[in-house]
Amino acid sequence: MRAAVLKSLDEPFAIADVPAPEMRTGEVIVDVVAAPVLSYANEVFNGARRYPIELPIIPGCGAIGRVRTSGPDATHLKVGDWVFCDPTVRSRDDALMPDIVLQGWSARGDGGLRLQRYYHDGPFGEQVRVPTENAVRIGDIEPERASRWCALTVMLVPYGGLLAASFQAGETLLVSGATGNFGSACVAVALAMGAGCVVAPGRNERVLADLERRFGERVRTVRISGNEEEDRERMRQAAPGAIDCVLDLLPPSAPTTAVRAALMAVRPYGRVVLMGGVGMLGGEGLDLPYPWLMRNDITVRGKWMCSPDAVPRMAALIRSGLLSLDHIDVQTFSLDQANEAVRHAAANAGPFKMTVIQPRSAPTG
Ligand SMILES: NC(=O)c1ccc[n+]([C@@H]2O[C@H](COP(=O)([O-])OP(=O)(O)OC[C@H]3O[C@@H](n4cnc5c(N)ncnc54)[C@H](OP(=O)(O)O)[C@@H]3O)[C@@H](O)[C@H]2O)c1
Repeated sequence: MRAAVLKSLDEPFAIADVPAPEMRTGEVIVDVVAAPVLSYANEVFNGARRYPIELPIIPGCGAIGRVRTSGPDATHLKVGDWVFCDPTVRSRDDALMPDIVLQGWSARGDGGLRLQRYYHDGPFGEQVRVPTENAVRIGDIEPERASRWCALTVMLVPYGGLLAASFQAGETLLVSGATGNFGSACVAVALAMGAGCVVAPGRNERVLADLERRFGERVRTVRISGNEEEDRERMRQAAPGAIDCVLDLLPPSAPTTAVRAALMAVRPYGRVVLMGGVGMLGGEGLDLPYPWLMRNDITVRGKWMCSPDAVPRMAALIRSGLLSLDHIDVQTFSLDQANEAVRHAAANAGPFKMTVIQPRSAPTG
């Protein structure tokens, strides 16, 4: 099969003929129809993000495709079913503390690396081999909509955080990093889940105005200045009442003061979920006041990716029309154009923009 192979962090992909993956017990082979290229993929592939990936690798992070072959442990999947290839692969030999690898993308700790050696290659190829439980049916879709469904990779991240925080319809959410790629997806997902109000802070006024235009009155934007106390007060003032939950999705370049400005705007007994990349490349600690946490009964938790059940739940939100894929601006590339796709993704980062590689010739859309 054809695939984009990353052989060295100093070189672009080689587009090459490689052996097709072979299915073993507990696995599914998927024909990849569309695979998203995240805006910071260039920083992962050139080593700037210091993600632990062993080379050579066929990278990628999640995909939409059709089942080519499944094994006897699959009791529902049929050949041709449309599936989302969930990149979050968990080891199966520790129910309490599974190791995690993001297939084709990243890993956590030594166990994650061991798992990565087996579930190594991602979806920047014509076929991908995934654990059976990671080929999640999304129902019938029109082939030309496959690239749009790649938005699952982005939207599932904040959805995972919102489910982890038991976010409820009617509640007020503050999204730290709301003007970013994942942050803006969080705004859309929270509204689809019935958020009463989403407070959206940011510095980019054009994007703030765009969020208001897209989502109307349930979104309250806040222009932040970089002054921690002042910004926190502005966020509190923007909300119609107490802020029930804060979800942070700031990137590694943002300072911890920006995280803390948002985080400490939460109400007493409130919940905070940390999902961003802050601190991944070093920098100051978060330094939260012990008495503030204790006296206010605050819950702070981290979340990486989402639980397996989040995928069918989100597919249902999309299929019901509660969460729309139509406002996403998609640019597609063929496999031969994989290097161009990575450059395009970096140059066109931002809310509701998506770059997609289509390894097989399918209609765009
Ligand atoms: N936990 C997980 O499972 C998971 C999964 C995927 C990704 N992530 C993390 O999510 C992070 C965000 O990714 P992304 O692609 O959405 O990033 P992005 O698009 O670059 O997000 C930029 C956001 O950060 C804000 N920002 C940047 N520097 C800032 C500063 N100095 N002060 C205040 N705000 C600042 C921007 O605000 P303005 O533009 O308005 O200034 C914008 O809202 C990634 O870096 C990754 O580490 C986590």
